[in-house]
Amino acid sequence: LTGKDLAGCRILVSAGPTREEIDPVRYLSNRSSGRMGFAIAAAARRRGAIVTLVAGPVQLMPPAGVEVVSVVSARQMHEVMLGRFAAADVVIKAAAVADYRPMIRQQQKMKKKSEEFILDLEKTPDILAELGQRKAHQILVGFAAETEDLLEHARKKLVSKNLDMIVANDVSIPGAGFDVDTNIVRFIYRNGEMENLELMSKTDVANHLLDRICPLWKKTC
Ligand code: C5P
Repeated sequence: LTGKDLAGCRILVSAGPTREEIDPVRYLSNRSSGRMGFAIAAAARRRGAIVTLVAGPVQLMPPAGVEVVSVVSARQMHEVMLGRFAAADVVIKAAAVADYRPMIRQQQKMKKKSEEFILDLEKTPDILAELGQRKAHQILVGFAAETEDLLEHARKKLVSKNLDMIVANDVSIPGAGFDVDTNIVRFIYRNGEMENLELMSKTDVANHLLDRICPLWKKTC
């Protein structure tokens, strides 16, 4: 229907969780399946875009015609996203990047000892916020998965990370968010406007999102 409206547009998408190693056999991660980001990459490619997909550890088939760069940790995702930022027209960060990582990765498998155990964590770099600071011509889109005060949190992130648009989804609603094929999202824009989408497949969410991004991108060409 939409044809090749994104022909020539260079889109960088991140998807999936990250894994932060504790020792050789353990890690911290989250329930992200990567499906939303993969759906965006596939839809963008079908619409003619030149797509790079930076994917954390997921169990999904790479979309046809898309360059996939596999990463594991937030550190690796940070490096790849920053390295590829200058060459992108549109960046969509659908990845669920770990917010914290162990301060020290143990070289050997840790042994059980005391009844209680405290793991020291440090913040990972906020990749999207850094991209927001470096933004030149790029259209920058973030995701906000929340379980409470969805709009308030999403609006704050839109501003603090210098985004053009944020996709907010309440992951506590059945049929929305992690590990399902459907999503219920709201689009929020810089001017404060908001759009509520009903429950739909992640592919349909992806196409609605690209419908909104396309005119923003065309304006910058
Ligand atoms: O702050 P929060 O994690 O909720 O923001 C979500 C958005 O920020 C997502 O688009 C996510 O990909 C991005 N993010 C990031 N680097 C982090 C944390 C989140 O790029 N360390």
